[in-house]
Amino acid sequence: MEILRNVVLLVHLTGFAILFGAWVVEAVAKRYQATRLMDVGLLIAGVAGLALAAPWGLDHELNYVKIGVKLVVLIVIGGLIGASTSRARKGTPMPAGVFWLIGALTLLNAALALLWR
Ligand code: HEM
Repeated sequence: MEILRNVVLLVHLTGFAILFGAWVVEAVAKRYQATRLMDVGLLIAGVAGLALAAPWGLDHELNYVKIGVKLVVLIVIGGLIGASTSRARKGTPMPAGVFWLIGALTLLNAALALLWR
């Protein structure tokens, strides 16, 4: 059970890596726009995160306040990516500030996961 939980955690981290990696690629290329790949990473991190939010294969209590905050942050990131990709399709891209906010909120969720015990 513990091994299975660690596999789900690996999937969760892979989603985070895809989301943040895709964001870094756009930042380095100075395009400052959200992409479909960010959506894919967010979806993987979100689904695996919800599976990890259930108390199975654990020898400690989960911090549900932290998990709730992470879920809200994830929903906000999803909204920003969705708005950004649809506006780009219509030819009226979002300001670069929205792109930086997506990266900052992604890092915030990783920081919450690791620093809030
Ligand atoms: C962009 C979104 C997210 C990022 C970047 C992220 C990042 C991380 C990271 C880096 C870890 C590893 C922490 C560790 O090893 O202790 C982690 C663990 C975890 N995440 Fe997320 N996460 C995100 C979204 C979510 C969501 C939406 C949920 C649940 C609704 C969630 C639930 C969890 C749980 C339950 C763990 C395991 C923590 C533990 O067992 O104490 N995550 N997350």
